[in-house]
Amino acid sequence: MSLTLLQAWTGARDRLKAAQIDSPVIDSRLLVEAATGASRLEIATDPYRVVSDEQRAVLDGYLDRRERREPVARIIGRKGFWKIMLNVGPGVLIPRADTETILDVVLPAFDEQSRFQMLDLGVGSGAILLAILAERPHATGLGTDISEDAIAVARDNAARLGLEARASFLYGDWTQGMADASFDVVVSNPPYIAREVIEGLEPEVRLHEPMVALNGGEDGLDHYRTLAPEILRVLRPGGLFAVEIGYDQAEAVTALFEAAGAGDVRVVKDLGTRDRVVAGTKKPLGN
Ligand SMILES: C[S@@+](CC[C@H](N)C(=O)[O-])C[C@H]1O[C@@H](n2cnc3c(N)ncnc32)[C@H](O)[C@@H]1O
Repeated sequence: MSLTLLQAWTGARDRLKAAQIDSPVIDSRLLVEAATGASRLEIATDPYRVVSDEQRAVLDGYLDRRERREPVARIIGRKGFWKIMLNVGPGVLIPRADTETILDVVLPAFDEQSRFQMLDLGVGSGAILLAILAERPHATGLGTDISEDAIAVARDNAARLGLEARASFLYGDWTQGMADASFDVVVSNPPYIAREVIEGLEPEVRLHEPMVALNGGEDGLDHYRTLAPEILRVLRPGGLFAVEIGYDQAEAVTALFEAAGAGDVRVVKDLGTRDRVVAGTKKPLGN
């Protein structure tokens, strides 16, 4: 029996609902789009288009995987972030909307004509670095990561977005080997989940995100202890930094950056009004 786009969508939605997936309507639409090649608009305007047997089999496979709690972005291999679309391979964190808070800090500090050099520590898919370079055509940037998979994915994303001439990537441990005072802005979304919290997280995160992207050590703060002095070392005097934090880490991370000598340290909330970013500056010379 033939299946229409509308039937494919409602059937997929019902399967995900029965499996108690949190967002069955959106997830089923995204999976139908990916399996059939139909856009969201086409599903609405051409609902009786017939889905081929091959597309149906692909959709079934996707639904099996989603029922096993694999995230949609992992299944379809891509995720939107800010105004760009990123490929996400298995070894890379799926970028989160909360991380866009870093762009709310960095973009207002540099107008479209600004020439500046940025560093993204733990670049993952390239989300923060590439979204900023896409918005600021005279900026250049370096992304580092301890995961070779992440570096490969970020490099591929830079090329697909036409940003490869302004983005470079380095495999390594945070700022190792970098010269002092090299960057105008440094951003990072380091792993910040306390080790023992990880096993209680939902399966989409616990089973399908790379551990190296999550684990912040015993209290979740291990990487900030390394990064606070190192970020201030590689920043130019007067330069800006912005790091993502867990909702309950503002006080501890602020203290780490202040102890490292940062100026104007402030906490920025995400759209859900939770503490999400600690930002500040390296004091200008003479201060
Ligand atoms: C939470 S993910 C953030 C990825 C990406 N920046 C984003 O916001 O979507 C943290 C990233 O830090 C990387 N990482 C973990 N430890 C690192 C280290 N010692 N040096 C460099 N990168 C590291 C992980 O591989 C991962 O890509």
